Amino acid sequence: MRVLSGIKPSGSIHLGNYLGALRIWVTEQHRDTFYGVVDLHALTLPIEPEELRTQTLSTAATLLAAGIDPQRATLFVQSWIPYHAQLTWLLECVVSFGELKRMTQFKEKGGEQAGHRAGLFTYPVLMASDILLYDTEGVPVGEDQRQHLELTRVIAERFNTRYGPTFVVPEAIVPTAGARVMDLQDPTKKMSKSELSVQGTISLFDSPSEIEKKIKRAVTDTDNDVRYDRKNKAGISNLLDIFAAVEATTPQLIAERYSRYGDLKSDLAAALVSTLAPIQQRYDELMADPGELHQQMMIGSQRANEVAAPVFERASRAIGLLH
Ligand code: TYM
Repeated sequence: MRVLSGIKPSGSIHLGNYLGALRIWVTEQHRDTFYGVVDLHALTLPIEPEELRTQTLSTAATLLAAGIDPQRATLFVQSWIPYHAQLTWLLECVVSFGELKRMTQFKEKGGEQAGHRAGLFTYPVLMASDILLYDTEGVPVGEDQRQHLELTRVIAERFNTRYGPTFVVPEAIVPTAGARVMDLQDPTKKMSKSELSVQGTISLFDSPSEIEKKIKRAVTDTDNDVRYDRKNKAGISNLLDIFAAVEATTPQLIAERYSRYGDLKSDLAAALVSTLAPIQQRYDELMADPGELHQQMMIGSQRANEVAAPVFERASRAIGLLH
């Protein structure tokens, strides 16, 4: 099975990215996997050029540190493969304005406000190109990307109907625990790179004491009943869900082990510290040799280019461009 996913280099990777996506990228590596640092996506919101360069490199290092093995997975930088932007244009002429307007992420980001970039509106089409260019079958993503994946399927099917069989129609791979990690200070909002909620977000690079502090101060309710109930007990359920993702079990089974919030919180903090410590250590080693990191990404991007080229050609012939 061909698997592909991507992550925006637009800020420090957080626990939601790790539990909802990266962790699954690592376990899917026995398949034919393509993982992209999708730098073009980072341009949808304001970002300084120097910041984008730094984040692209450090995001690649984070993926490797989290367990992506460049001998097995194809790790690429999106902008180094010109077909992503090229295919986006073809697909923008397949999707409709109304379909893009319905995307909840665009609405949540206040997309229609004056001054917002047009790329923020069309970005789900770039994401569809990322996926369709590689004949992808499975896409490991968090819950927030499900709607974009659904749109990708609609675009692929419409293209195939209109112009003949061209694209593979992909499926989402969404984990059972950790698919929607919520902000620790406001468990009705998802943990997010762009929200300025430092206390509510655990970065993969937080120190043990920061992790302990943030988990200890995580907002819960006052009835002191450890029970998984997303609707009525959002805070405690979020902690149970995070714990279940870390231990590869279910939140209900974790809940059975605890009768007090304090015990749950201190064990969860300890589990997170021991999960993140080795990632942090490998990250520091990798960032010490940026030349080698660059080289790894060049190798992966060349391979990605070879796979994407014939798929782009297939699509451009099908739509009627002269060859
Ligand atoms: P991005 O960079 O915002 O996030 C990367 C991955 O992390 C997941 N995620 C979460 N999972 C659980 N809980 C959270 N709070 C949480 N926040 C983020 C996201 O679902 C995602 O899987 N458009 C995508 C990147 C992308 C992509 C693609 C993904 C571009 N092209 C092609 C798959 C295939 C994005 O902005 O993800």
